[in-house]
Amino acid sequence: MSRAERKMDHIQFALSTGQSKKNMFDDIRFVHQALPDSAVSDINIKPKTGDLNLKSPVFINAMTGGGGRDTEQLNGLLARVAKETGAAMAVGSQMAALKDRSERQSYAIVRKENPDGILFANLGSEATIHQAREAVDMIEANALQIHLNVVQELTMPEGDRDFRGALERIQAIAEQLHVPVIIKETGFGVSRETAEKLKHTGISAIDVSGFGGTNFALIENERRKKKLAYFEDWGIPTAAAIVEVKSVFGKTVLASGGIQDAQDIIKAFFLGADSVGLAGSFLKTAMHQGEKQLISDVQALYEDLAMMMTALGAENLADLQKCPAVITGELAQYLSARGYS
Ligand code: FNR
Repeated sequence: MSRAERKMDHIQFALSTGQSKKNMFDDIRFVHQALPDSAVSDINIKPKTGDLNLKSPVFINAMTGGGGRDTEQLNGLLARVAKETGAAMAVGSQMAALKDRSERQSYAIVRKENPDGILFANLGSEATIHQAREAVDMIEANALQIHLNVVQELTMPEGDRDFRGALERIQAIAEQLHVPVIIKETGFGVSRETAEKLKHTGISAIDVSGFGGTNFALIENERRKKKLAYFEDWGIPTAAAIVEVKSVFGKTVLASGGIQDAQDIIKAFFLGADSVGLAGSFLKTAMHQGEKQLISDVQALYEDLAMMMTALGAENLADLQKCPAVITGELAQYLSARGYS
């Protein structure tokens, strides 16, 4: 199977396996405030994200690339949505285009469509500093995402089997690259132990990309005869992963993994996220309902956020961390077992 076919397979399986909703956000309930002393007109939904300088509380996370015409079209669509909504956007892994120049157009289109937008380049942790620079230059990226995807690779029949040296490569890139570096998972979450290791590398942000949304073990198992079923329920649910990373990492924390609506987003901010990424649910809207619908969905997310912040009396996103809320169920158990009160 060619790389382009595999990438289109990912998109089809991501759509058909869907989002599991096991991210544990449902275990959080805000305590209603009947006297919030607030006004919709006072609400500010601009995030604080340090040197990433994001303008929107929501970003379009990495999901395409290297798939020829089809992914070029999808990347173009997503880039126009990003432009219309002010959201930052990540491209999918650019490794294919580093190896084959003819693939570059399917990435470069995002800068053409959105000349002034905030764009993230994307590579795996096998990348060298030279490749990182090339990926950033290809789309004139404002930052580089480096993805960690051990479970996905292990589940892929043709995937990597050797993960040594990743931290050292990340450190070298973070020290030498001229744009900020974001470390992200791909749906299995980042723990506090991993965040501790990353803390000293000079990276700017961690995207927890937790369990409960797109599930690459399910997706890759669809393509295998002998399934690695034990990986299908692996990983740190997104809500828990935000708490884990936030507890040790003092810089920007991004949240993704199964985020589907404004309620998930506001709960991610409550737990300490600084901005929130969506991949699978945006992909579904883009593929099934198209560009216009996705633009209006993103704008609706902004409005819904402002409405809920008004009800909670939170003028800005950071205020959400102070809102009274009750955590029950599996999330409460998880946090207690990990020593969080
Ligand atoms: C992804 N994701 C991903 N991540 C990455 O860093 N590089 C990549 O190339 C891809 N490719 C990719 C393809 C498709 C079809 C999907 C749906 C996703 C992972 C993505 O950025 C995100 O971390 C996870 O999908 C979890 O978020 P959602 O989908 O649950 O919102």
